[in-house]
Amino acid sequence: MNIILLGPPGAGKGTQARRLVDERGMIQLSTGDMLRAARKSGTEMGKVVAEVMDRGDLVTDEIVIGLIEERLTGDQGAGFIFDGFPRTLAQADALGELLERLGQKLGCVIEMQVDDDALVARIVARSTCAQCGESYNDISKPIPADGKCAVCGGTEFIRRADDNEESLKQRLMEYYKKTSPLIGYYYCKGTLRRVDGLADIDTVAAAIGEVLDRDCG
Ligand code: AP5
Ligand code: MG
Repeated sequence: MNIILLGPPGAGKGTQARRLVDERGMIQLSTGDMLRAARKSGTEMGKVVAEVMDRGDLVTDEIVIGLIEERLTGDQGAGFIFDGFPRTLAQADALGELLERLGQKLGCVIEMQVDDDALVARIVARSTCAQCGESYNDISKPIPADGKCAVCGGTEFIRRADDNEESLKQRLMEYYKKTSPLIGYYYCKGTLRRVDGLADIDTVAAAIGEVLDRDCG
């Protein structure tokens, strides 16, 4: 089963996607993680996107669709979780075409509903394990007291370059201008489902699990 996690920056897409990977053997396809890996490896594309990401703007459709296309033909596990993709109507159309070409379907699109105040609070408190990418939060999910990542034991934690108030403002603007129209797009296709993203992490995970088991494709 293939699903999309749709929601603004800080909605909890990455957090929930990692749980679905662990608990259900699904494969997380996060365009944000792919772009961060590209900039870290210093490829030409990575250099081009670094500035765009730090500003909080969207990277071009062409680049992200290319990244997703490359990954769709690999291991499909128990299905793909699209995390942070699609983010524009053009990307949504492209995803539909790619899946059709592969004889695959989109099960459902889960909108994680949150409010802007919670997002700002979550994002400024976020850090990520440099080794495995596990996400922590100074308030809701602190780094263990021994200073080691609970998943891999790593001891280095990083804050994202775009996790500052100015970039976040622009990321939210991009979300409302270019990504939120996808809510109507998938509603019309009959695949949109909603969960309360403001609940605690376990409660959100349970709500997503229920959608997947009972009401997704
Ligand atoms: P991307 O990496 O996708 O970032 P984003 O959409 O801004 O979302 P985040 O990763 O910030 O939030 P999240 O929803 O994953 O929340 P998380 O689980 O970490 O994209 C970054 C940039 O790349 C974009 O700005 C753009 O430039 C580019 N890009 C990427 N994809 C693109 C595309 N398709 N097209 C064009 N450009 C693209 O949670 C946040 C924090 O809250 C964590 O600390 C977590 O521990 C905590 N938390 C999570 N859930 C809860 C909860 N229920 N209660 C309390 N705390 C919680
Ligand atoms: Mg994320």
